[in-house]
Amino acid sequence: MITVSTIAEVRQHVQAARAKGQRIGFVPTMGNLHAGHLALADAARANADFVVASIFVNPLQFGPNEDLDAYPRTLEADQQGLTDHGVDLLFAPAVAEVYPDGMTLQTRVSVPGLGDILCGASRPGHFDGVATVVTKLFQIVQPDLAVFGRKDFQQLTLIRRMVRDLSMPVTILDVPTARAEDGLALSSRNHYLSADERAKAPALYRTLNQIAEQLQQGGADLIKVRKQALTNLEDSGFRPDYVEIRHRHTLQEPLQEDRELVILAAAWMGKTRLIDNLVVDRPASS
Ligand code: PAF
Repeated sequence: MITVSTIAEVRQHVQAARAKGQRIGFVPTMGNLHAGHLALADAARANADFVVASIFVNPLQFGPNEDLDAYPRTLEADQQGLTDHGVDLLFAPAVAEVYPDGMTLQTRVSVPGLGDILCGASRPGHFDGVATVVTKLFQIVQPDLAVFGRKDFQQLTLIRRMVRDLSMPVTILDVPTARAEDGLALSSRNHYLSADERAKAPALYRTLNQIAEQLQQGGADLIKVRKQALTNLEDSGFRPDYVEIRHRHTLQEPLQEDRELVILAAAWMGKTRLIDNLVVDRPASS
């Protein structure tokens, strides 16, 4: 794997691959890679001839009181992982390469209706930062396909919408959430958890499964189900941000007849904000 840090170098390598008729796959990340990220690389490898990954901790998607400075940076280990998983080119730019005019950009990409709900309501500006950097990265790499994890379900939904709305010629592939044996979704932020917090954290996924079971039985009162889930999370040591049951494709409140749902939750365990989600099909009778 070749590692480069400039846009010009990425373009040069991608153009050379394209000239050979190769299909370009792209895996954008913020580094500190775990098995979930490496599964994204595997999916890109299986569907493309030339695989590009990026590692860029994007300041634009962090709020003023968030963990930008503390965010784990593990470039050497990440390079090894990406090499082992068949990535051809790694783009690991400095902030000034991506934002040469600083953070006060003139142009930002925003996906109203998706970027300002759920995690977007708790983290104002976060999804504008994601949409903007992903647009820039797509412009730089010009991939045929890009791979995102289902763990960040709202991000995945928003990127699909953005690609569609802006007629971007990129196919979006998604990969299931990688989990620890006890069900906790793998996340770079799990490193922030103390041993005690880590032991409590699987309650988030357990709660999602309890909601899913109730929905699958049919006839569930969504308000009561959500209230019970919030209580369960509090009893397990979480400070819930939200638990929501939404339409799987629009993330809006579901209508009575909607069957394809997704349960989304965000909750604080100590100082760490964890998110998770689970898709569920509601039976036709409910
Ligand atoms: O999911 C992430 O790691 C980031 O939000 C992304 C898509 C790489 C944009 O910075």
